[in-house]
Amino acid sequence: MKLIIANWKMNPQTMRAATRIFKSTEAVASKLKKIKTIICPPFVYLSNLQSSSQNKLVLGAQDIFWTDKKTSYTGEISAPMLKELGAKYVIIGHSERRTHLGETDEIINKKIKYALASGMKAIFCIGERERDKEGDYLNFIKKEILHGLSGVPKKLFKNLIIAYEPIWAIGKSSKNADTPENVFTMVIYIKRILVSIAGRDIADNIPILYGGSVDTKNTAGYLEKGKVDGLLIGHKSLIPKEFNEILKIADKC
Ligand code: PGA
Repeated sequence: MKLIIANWKMNPQTMRAATRIFKSTEAVASKLKKIKTIICPPFVYLSNLQSSSQNKLVLGAQDIFWTDKKTSYTGEISAPMLKELGAKYVIIGHSERRTHLGETDEIINKKIKYALASGMKAIFCIGERERDKEGDYLNFIKKEILHGLSGVPKKLFKNLIIAYEPIWAIGKSSKNADTPENVFTMVIYIKRILVSIAGRDIADNIPILYGGSVDTKNTAGYLEKGKVDGLLIGHKSLIPKEFNEILKIADKC
Protein backbone atom coordinates (compact mmCIF):
# COMPACT_ATOMS: atom_id res chain seq x y z
CA MET A 1 0.00 0.00 0.00
CA LYS A 2 1.26 3.47 -0.84
CA LEU A 3 0.61 6.18 1.71
CA ILE A 4 -0.82 9.48 0.53
CA ILE A 5 -0.93 11.89 3.45
CA ALA A 6 -2.88 15.14 3.47
CA ASN A 7 -1.40 17.83 5.70
CA TRP A 8 -4.13 20.44 5.97
CA LYS A 9 -1.97 22.69 8.18
CA MET A 10 -4.12 25.48 9.75
CA ASN A 11 -6.91 25.02 7.19
CA PRO A 12 -9.79 25.32 6.46
CA GLN A 13 -11.31 27.94 8.74
CA THR A 14 -14.70 26.30 9.35
CA MET A 15 -15.94 22.84 10.28
CA ARG A 16 -18.33 23.02 7.37
CA ALA A 17 -15.52 23.42 4.87
CA ALA A 18 -13.49 20.69 6.60
CA THR A 19 -16.41 18.26 6.33
CA ARG A 20 -16.92 19.10 2.67
CA ILE A 21 -13.27 18.44 1.77
CA PHE A 22 -13.20 15.27 3.86
CA LYS A 23 -16.34 13.81 2.29
CA SER A 24 -15.14 14.55 -1.20
CA THR A 25 -11.79 12.85 -0.54
CA GLU A 26 -13.48 9.92 1.16
CA ALA A 27 -15.65 9.25 -1.88
CA VAL A 28 -12.55 8.65 -4.00
CA ALA A 29 -10.13 7.24 -1.39
CA SER A 30 -12.56 4.52 -0.32
CA LYS A 31 -12.57 3.03 -3.83
CA LEU A 32 -8.82 2.81 -4.43
CA LYS A 33 -7.00 -0.50 -4.31
CA LYS A 34 -3.36 0.37 -3.69
CA ILE A 35 -3.56 3.55 -1.64
CA LYS A 36 -4.02 4.29 2.02
CA THR A 37 -5.07 7.92 2.41
CA ILE A 38 -4.32 9.66 5.68
CA ILE A 39 -5.95 13.00 6.40
CA CYS A 40 -4.30 15.18 9.04
CA PRO A 41 -6.72 18.04 9.82
CA PRO A 42 -6.35 20.56 12.64
CA PHE A 43 -7.04 18.85 16.02
CA VAL A 44 -10.40 20.58 16.46
CA TYR A 45 -11.92 18.86 13.42
CA LEU A 46 -10.86 15.31 14.23
CA SER A 47 -13.97 14.30 16.16
CA ASN A 48 -16.29 15.34 13.34
CA LEU A 49 -14.40 13.64 10.54
CA GLN A 50 -15.00 9.95 10.96
CA SER A 51 -14.30 7.74 7.98
CA SER A 52 -16.63 4.93 7.03
CA SER A 53 -13.87 2.99 5.26
CA GLN A 54 -11.23 2.74 7.97
CA ASN A 55 -8.80 0.58 6.05
CA LYS A 56 -8.62 3.05 3.12
CA LEU A 57 -8.97 6.43 4.79
CA VAL A 58 -7.47 7.09 8.20
CA LEU A 59 -7.09 10.16 10.37
CA GLY A 60 -3.83 11.62 11.59
CA ALA A 61 -2.81 14.61 13.70
CA GLN A 62 -0.35 17.35 12.80
CA ASP A 63 1.45 17.28 16.15
CA ILE A 64 1.44 15.64 19.57
CA PHE A 65 2.90 16.40 22.98
CA TRP A 66 5.66 14.19 24.45
CA THR A 67 4.02 12.81 27.59
CA ASP A 68 0.75 12.16 29.36
CA LYS A 69 2.36 11.31 32.70
CA LYS A 70 2.07 14.77 34.11
CA THR A 71 -0.89 16.60 32.69
CA SER A 72 -0.24 20.24 33.53
CA TYR A 73 0.75 21.39 30.04
CA THR A 74 -1.61 24.12 28.93
CA GLY A 75 -2.62 23.81 25.31
CA GLU A 76 -1.03 20.44 24.60
CA ILE A 77 -2.57 17.23 23.22
CA SER A 78 -1.69 13.67 24.28
CA ALA A 79 -1.77 10.31 22.51
CA PRO A 80 -4.84 8.96 24.39
CA MET A 81 -6.78 12.07 23.34
CA LEU A 82 -5.84 11.57 19.69
CA LYS A 83 -6.44 7.84 19.69
CA GLU A 84 -9.89 8.25 21.17
CA LEU A 85 -10.80 10.42 18.17
CA GLY A 86 -9.52 7.81 15.74
CA ALA A 87 -6.19 9.45 14.84
CA LYS A 88 -3.74 6.64 14.18
CA TYR A 89 -0.95 8.68 12.61
CA VAL A 90 0.83 11.83 13.71
CA ILE A 91 3.12 14.20 11.83
CA ILE A 92 6.17 15.06 13.93
CA GLY A 93 8.89 17.63 13.26
CA HIS A 94 7.33 19.43 10.32
CA SER A 95 9.67 22.18 9.14
CA GLU A 96 7.06 24.88 9.84
CA ARG A 97 7.04 23.85 13.51
CA ARG A 98 10.83 23.75 13.55
CA THR A 99 11.08 27.21 11.97
CA HIS A 100 8.21 29.13 13.56
CA LEU A 101 7.50 27.31 16.81
CA GLY A 102 10.95 26.53 18.10
CA GLU A 103 10.82 22.76 17.77
CA THR A 104 14.29 21.36 18.27
CA ASP A 105 15.70 17.94 17.42
CA GLU A 106 15.47 17.16 21.13
CA ILE A 107 11.75 17.96 21.34
CA ILE A 108 11.10 16.05 18.13
CA ASN A 109 12.98 13.04 19.50
CA LYS A 110 10.83 13.06 22.65
CA LYS A 111 7.65 13.30 20.58
CA ILE A 112 8.69 10.44 18.29
CA LYS A 113 9.52 8.19 21.24
CA TYR A 114 6.26 9.05 22.98
CA ALA A 115 4.05 8.64 19.89
CA LEU A 116 5.59 5.29 18.98
CA ALA A 117 5.50 4.00 22.56
CA SER A 118 1.81 4.99 22.65
CA GLY A 119 1.09 2.81 19.62
CA MET A 120 0.71 5.63 17.09
CA LYS A 121 2.36 5.76 13.69
CA ALA A 122 4.87 8.61 13.57
CA ILE A 123 5.43 10.53 10.33
CA PHE A 124 8.88 11.98 11.01
CA CYS A 125 9.63 14.99 8.76
CA ILE A 126 13.16 15.84 7.71
CA GLY A 127 14.57 18.13 5.03
CA GLU A 128 17.24 20.69 4.31
CA ARG A 129 16.72 24.43 4.05
CA GLU A 130 18.91 24.71 0.95
CA ARG A 131 20.82 22.35 -1.26
CA ASP A 132 24.37 23.67 -1.15
CA LYS A 133 26.91 22.63 -3.78
CA GLU A 134 29.36 21.41 -1.14
CA GLY A 135 26.87 18.78 -0.06
CA ASP A 136 26.55 19.90 3.56
CA TYR A 137 22.83 19.29 3.30
CA LEU A 138 23.52 15.57 3.36
CA ASN A 139 25.16 15.86 6.77
CA PHE A 140 22.27 18.02 7.90
CA ILE A 141 19.77 15.32 6.93
CA LYS A 142 21.85 12.65 8.60
CA LYS A 143 21.98 14.63 11.85
CA GLU A 144 18.25 15.22 11.79
CA ILE A 145 17.61 11.49 11.44
CA LEU A 146 20.15 10.44 14.06
CA HIS A 147 18.88 13.00 16.60
CA GLY A 148 15.23 12.32 15.90
CA LEU A 149 15.60 8.57 16.29
CA SER A 150 18.13 8.55 19.11
CA GLY A 151 17.15 5.97 21.74
CA VAL A 152 14.05 4.76 19.87
CA PRO A 153 13.69 1.02 20.67
CA LYS A 154 14.12 -1.07 17.52
CA LYS A 155 10.83 -2.88 18.07
CA LEU A 156 9.01 0.43 17.59
CA PHE A 157 10.49 1.14 14.16
CA LYS A 158 7.63 -0.79 12.55
CA ASN A 159 5.40 2.23 13.21
CA LEU A 160 7.84 4.79 11.85
CA ILE A 161 7.45 6.64 8.53
CA ILE A 162 10.01 9.09 7.17
CA ALA A 163 8.82 12.10 5.15
CA TYR A 164 11.60 13.79 3.21
CA GLU A 165 10.49 17.38 2.61
CA PRO A 166 13.17 19.77 1.38
CA ILE A 167 12.12 23.10 2.89
CA TRP A 168 12.92 25.05 -0.29
CA ALA A 169 10.35 22.96 -2.15
CA ILE A 170 7.41 23.39 0.24
CA GLY A 171 4.33 25.43 -0.70
CA LYS A 172 5.37 26.24 -4.27
CA SER A 173 4.40 24.96 -7.69
CA SER A 174 5.66 21.80 -9.33
CA LYS A 175 8.39 23.63 -11.25
CA ASN A 176 10.02 24.51 -7.92
CA ALA A 177 9.65 21.02 -6.50
CA ASP A 178 12.47 18.50 -6.28
CA THR A 179 13.06 16.19 -9.24
CA PRO A 180 12.20 12.48 -9.07
CA GLU A 181 15.88 11.71 -9.79
CA ASN A 182 17.08 13.71 -6.78
CA VAL A 183 14.37 12.22 -4.63
CA PHE A 184 15.52 8.73 -5.63
CA THR A 185 19.08 9.58 -4.55
CA MET A 186 17.74 10.88 -1.23
CA VAL A 187 15.67 7.73 -0.71
CA ILE A 188 18.83 5.63 -1.05
CA TYR A 189 20.77 7.96 1.23
CA ILE A 190 18.06 7.94 3.92
CA LYS A 191 17.71 4.17 3.63
CA ARG A 192 21.45 3.74 4.23
CA ILE A 193 21.24 5.83 7.40
CA LEU A 194 18.25 3.79 8.59
CA VAL A 195 20.17 0.56 7.89
CA SER A 196 23.07 1.85 10.01
CA ILE A 197 20.67 2.54 12.89
CA ALA A 198 18.33 -0.41 12.77
CA GLY A 199 19.75 -3.04 10.41
CA ARG A 200 18.59 -3.95 6.92
CA ASP A 201 15.50 -6.00 7.77
CA ILE A 202 13.96 -3.26 9.89
CA ALA A 203 15.08 -0.41 7.61
CA ASP A 204 13.59 -2.05 4.53
CA ASN A 205 10.15 -1.84 6.11
CA ILE A 206 10.25 1.86 6.98
CA PRO A 207 8.27 3.78 4.34
CA ILE A 208 10.06 6.82 2.92
CA LEU A 209 7.80 9.54 1.52
CA TYR A 210 8.41 12.75 -0.41
CA GLY A 211 6.70 16.07 0.29
CA GLY A 212 7.07 19.55 -1.21
CA SER A 213 4.83 20.97 -3.94
CA VAL A 214 3.38 17.64 -4.97
CA ASP A 215 0.62 18.01 -7.57
CA THR A 216 -1.06 16.10 -10.38
CA LYS A 217 1.91 16.73 -12.70
CA ASN A 218 4.68 15.29 -10.55
CA THR A 219 2.91 12.57 -8.53
CA ALA A 220 3.68 9.71 -10.93
CA GLY A 221 7.34 10.75 -11.24
CA TYR A 222 7.99 10.57 -7.49
CA LEU A 223 6.25 7.24 -7.11
CA GLU A 224 7.77 5.62 -10.19
CA LYS A 225 11.21 7.19 -10.78
CA GLY A 226 11.65 8.54 -7.25
CA LYS A 227 10.69 5.15 -5.81
CA VAL A 228 9.06 6.65 -2.74
CA ASP A 229 6.49 4.72 -0.71
CA GLY A 230 4.10 7.65 -0.65
CA LEU A 231 3.64 11.40 -0.59
CA LEU A 232 2.96 14.11 2.00
CA ILE A 233 0.81 16.79 0.44
CA GLY A 234 0.06 20.27 1.75
CA HIS A 235 -1.85 22.91 -0.19
CA LYS A 236 -3.15 20.60 -2.92
CA SER A 237 -4.77 18.35 -0.31
CA LEU A 238 -7.27 21.14 0.39
CA ILE A 239 -8.49 21.25 -3.20
CA PRO A 240 -10.62 18.10 -3.56
CA LYS A 241 -10.55 18.09 -7.36
CA GLU A 242 -6.75 18.13 -7.42
CA PHE A 243 -6.19 15.87 -4.43
CA ASN A 244 -8.63 13.28 -5.74
CA GLU A 245 -6.81 13.31 -9.07
CA ILE A 246 -3.48 12.80 -7.26
CA LEU A 247 -5.00 9.82 -5.42
CA LYS A 248 -6.20 8.27 -8.69
CA ILE A 249 -2.84 8.79 -10.39
CA ALA A 250 -1.03 7.25 -7.40
CA ASP A 251 -3.33 4.25 -7.47
CA LYS A 252 -2.29 3.54 -11.07
CA CYS A 253 1.47 3.81 -10.41
P1 PGA B 1 3.04 21.56 0.05
O1 PGA B 1 3.31 21.22 1.60
O2 PGA B 1 2.48 20.33 -0.58
O3 PGA B 1 2.07 22.70 0.11
O4 PGA B 1 4.37 21.92 -0.52
C1 PGA B 1 3.89 20.04 2.01
C2 PGA B 1 4.07 20.06 3.50
O5 PGA B 1 4.40 21.13 4.05
O6 PGA B 1 3.88 19.02 4.18
